[in-house]
Amino acid sequence: MSTFEVTSELYSEAEFCSTDSGNGNAVSKFTFTYPNQTKQLSTTTTRTAEADKSCNGTLIERDMREQTNGSDIDESESESESGDDVDIEAELNDDCYVPVSFDQPGKLQSSIEVDKDGDLLVARLRKGVIEIEHRKSTLLNMVGLQIWRGALLLADYILHNERKFRNSHILELGSGVGLTSIVASMYAREVICTDIDIGGLLGLIRDNIQRNVHLSNPTCRMSVSELDFKVSYQDYPQTLKSQLQSVQYVLAADVIYDDDITEAFVRTLVSLLLELPKLKAIYIALEKRYVFTLEDMDSVAPCYDYFLRCFQKRNNRFGINRWKLINVCMNFPRYFDYDKVKDLVLLKICHASK
Ligand SMILES: C[S@@+](CC[C@H](N)C(=O)[O-])C[C@H]1O[C@@H](n2cnc3c(N)ncnc32)[C@H](O)[C@@H]1O
Repeated sequence: MSTFEVTSELYSEAEFCSTDSGNGNAVSKFTFTYPNQTKQLSTTTTRTAEADKSCNGTLIERDMREQTNGSDIDESESESESGDDVDIEAELNDDCYVPVSFDQPGKLQSSIEVDKDGDLLVARLRKGVIEIEHRKSTLLNMVGLQIWRGALLLADYILHNERKFRNSHILELGSGVGLTSIVASMYAREVICTDIDIGGLLGLIRDNIQRNVHLSNPTCRMSVSELDFKVSYQDYPQTLKSQLQSVQYVLAADVIYDDDITEAFVRTLVSLLLELPKLKAIYIALEKRYVFTLEDMDSVAPCYDYFLRCFQKRNNRFGINRWKLINVCMNFPRYFDYDKVKDLVLLKICHASK
């Protein structure tokens, strides 16, 4: 295990206010904007037919289709040129009602603007604050005590897809200090927040849940359990296995950074895909973290590539892909304040037949 301290780059870029909690931890306020309520409450909407450049440069063909809000939503997908070995498709975000041209950032309509990165600037309606106790730097084996960009990306996705997650049963893997689960609890009926118990992590998650309990949906049941990717599903405690039977969505942010952990993570994903009868989708946020290597004479994202290889190996056991891996369209707004760097991606895994 490395004795070097690692630091999430988030702290230098996010505009949050931190205080020292006296035990070496910081307590930071993460401000977010609630999604535009009027759009969420409309009963129907129509997508416009178009092809635009989005999702990290992939070309997306959009279909004209009507969709009723409030129903369980299965995203429309279309093939994209991903350049990856694994067949990754682009997923249209359900709430991408507004065509965004990334070639011409700036003003689109009188009420809708995009920033220089092409992210939608949302009307500032109502703000919320999540207060989180965390570390600002740790050894590599305790990175869960910090907050990473993936947690905020996934939190943005939940805020933007409120209808999808409302009254749902959610499992978060590798939750860290619990920010994404806390956002999920604003809409879900149940959130099972899990991680390994190292450096008092599970206790810290419980404290953070308590700090923000006023934000949660009052009918949401939240629990914190140990779930170690290196423990096989058969050996999970019976109570956890029973709870998992209701889970519809699995979330994981920034858990792909070490090949050993990645292998165990993929084994866990496959077990969950096989064992959870109500599972609709797994969402994985990650930063590709490109490095230049002399061996490749190119910039490569070794941890991401290793994840794709591991997943593909297990997915293609019998020569057919049982599950599909989809690149979620990234042009949903930023509700939290952080740098949505271009290496950030959001993947969705679901049964190939869905
Ligand atoms: C980079 S942190 C991300 C934390 C949080 N999701 C975020 O984005 O802020 C990686 C997370 O994976 C967890 N992790 C590492 N090894 C694990 C294992 N074997 N089983 C489950 N979680 C693990 C860590 O404890 C940590 O919470």
